[in-house]
Amino acid sequence: NAVKPGKSGRMTQTSFTLHASDGRARTGVISTPRGDIRTPAFMPVGTAATVKAMLPESVRETGADILLGNTYHLMLRPTAERIDRLGGLHVFMNWQRPILTDSGGFQVMSLASLRKLTEQGVSFKSHIDGSKHMLSPERSMEIQRLLGSDIVMCFDECPALPADRDRIAESMELSMRWAARSKAAFGDRPGHMLFGIQQGGLEQDLRQHSAEALREIGFDGYAIGGLAVGEGQEAMFGCLDFAPGQLPEDRPRYLMGVGKPDDIVGAVARGVDMMDCVLPSRSGRTGQVFTRLGQLNIKNARHQDDPRPLDESCGCPTCRNYSRAYLHHVFRSQEIISSMLLTWHNLHYYQELMDGMRTAIAKGGFAQWASEFHAQRAQGDI
Ligand code: GUN
Ligand code: ZN
Repeated sequence: NAVKPGKSGRMTQTSFTLHASDGRARTGVISTPRGDIRTPAFMPVGTAATVKAMLPESVRETGADILLGNTYHLMLRPTAERIDRLGGLHVFMNWQRPILTDSGGFQVMSLASLRKLTEQGVSFKSHIDGSKHMLSPERSMEIQRLLGSDIVMCFDECPALPADRDRIAESMELSMRWAARSKAAFGDRPGHMLFGIQQGGLEQDLRQHSAEALREIGFDGYAIGGLAVGEGQEAMFGCLDFAPGQLPEDRPRYLMGVGKPDDIVGAVARGVDMMDCVLPSRSGRTGQVFTRLGQLNIKNARHQDDPRPLDESCGCPTCRNYSRAYLHHVFRSQEIISSMLLTWHNLHYYQELMDGMRTAIAKGGFAQWASEFHAQRAQGDI
């Protein structure tokens, strides 16, 4: 995992360096040949080779170091082979910084129809046109290689919660066998990272068993999967009280699919280094806005005469240039700019949240920062 300049002088390796920790919270940097990822990191979701309603350069301006892409969506349309012929996902979507891709199994389970799960993998019908496809650890690694993903995720399976313990254990064991096959199929690819995914539901012993199996195989980073699937924040935090500590201290820990701002703060407090969620971008299209004082919906009639910005303390282009009254109007009129402006603000807010946490952890003031975060939101009246 050492950092070595290659023949061209460009870095050909990846690394994770921890700069400081404060309680269980950590801050550091993941280095890749395509750029550094400051942690704790929030990854905007660019499922279909676009962060919806945003230009890639605008996503960068919000402070994002890395985007998330999806194997499932891209294999169906426009296909991994086509993206490869066109120079890879970075060139295709005009984002030259790091990209992490999810491996597909999780999306198959939520989106595809006629799914058939076997030891080999999963066959399914596309949610777009009903065409037949299959994914396995080997095929998922091939697709993520064709896309040119910098951080590749193991192919795993995640039961919907609540599920009984036997079902969760069986599914976790299958995911661990798939993790070994993912590692073998990934091979040796300098400059690219492969992350294992811990499963095991909310059960401490199953999570421990999963962590040990993954450590045995050996990965560049470790994800916590199978959370934020309907268990609620209290149960998720209960699991995060032990799960990150079961994973290697010297590797990045990635909590998949999380979350709301307070979920993110609670996860970082418990030792998580990376997260992704559709919430800031999807909410931008449904009128839901995140601010330091809490959430509001711009659709609400109380905003129609309001000359103030979404958040007086926000420095994003939306808050610098547009009133709530205008944003209410363009949302109600279904103007395209509504999605653009609200998504920009939400992504900016999320990245400022991450930056605030990184700075606070580096100074040893995370607990103070977190209590101010919660106090501001308690004030209400936004
Ligand atoms: N996204 C959210 N949760 C999960 C998970 O458990 N596995 C994968 N692959 N992706 C996820
Ligand atoms: Zn703003």
